[in-house]
Amino acid sequence: MRARVFPDYEGISAAVAYVVAGRLEEEPSTVLMLPTGITPLGMYRRLVEMHRSGRLSFANATFFNLDEYLGLAPDHRASYHVYMKDRFYGLIDADPARVFVPDGTAPDPEAECRRYEAAIREAGGIDVCVLGIGRNGHIGFNEPGAPFDSRTRVVELSESTRKVNASDFEADRAPERAITAGMATIFDSKSVLLLASGTNKAGAVAAAVEDDVSESMPASMLRSHPNASLFLDEDAASALGGGLAE
Ligand code: GLP
Repeated sequence: MRARVFPDYEGISAAVAYVVAGRLEEEPSTVLMLPTGITPLGMYRRLVEMHRSGRLSFANATFFNLDEYLGLAPDHRASYHVYMKDRFYGLIDADPARVFVPDGTAPDPEAECRRYEAAIREAGGIDVCVLGIGRNGHIGFNEPGAPFDSRTRVVELSESTRKVNASDFEADRAPERAITAGMATIFDSKSVLLLASGTNKAGAVAAAVEDDVSESMPASMLRSHPNASLFLDEDAASALGGGLAE
């Protein structure tokens, strides 16, 4: 796993947007898997700017989201459907037929997970997976303990994750469950770019990079990935002991 450290958040955002745009220019039909959260907002802003200035088209790309809350309608303001539409998919020339977000209101959530995995397979697999990281090391909504061989499935959210995300919800009650792309789903991506910014991510970053590879620290799985890179700002890298590159 390579790590690149930038002075600040803007540096990470620009670098990741540049990598994603470069992939799309090389291969317009790239299949992307994308995260939500605060961290990727700068990357999305830059990709939208590139599109608006006529430099970048997403018309032939395919998009999969990492996760969605279970039980939230696609028009719920805290849903990841709305997040992605408002910040990215609605602002670029994405083909709606190639935009996939798990349906949190599917009558049969298990069938929805199977449908999602099948859609990824039909698209030829994920070329580039962009990830954030939770303070407990979660990726997507794969909380500590998520099996490395897991596929898209329904998961329980940890109390700490629900607390961090609570302010998006009325009465500060985040949903208890979500649909997430699995650990193996993520690992099968040809390349993985993990973004982390701020001191509140420093502990998780250091544990993922320096402690044992373990299901108790989901992001550590990326250490055995052939093409995974970390994009960190100095704050997120501040607990690292030194030897970054493996
Ligand atoms: C949520 C998402 C993750 C994201 C994480 C960190 O739980 N499901 O995909 O990486 O939060 O979010 P943030 O970037 O806001 O810190």
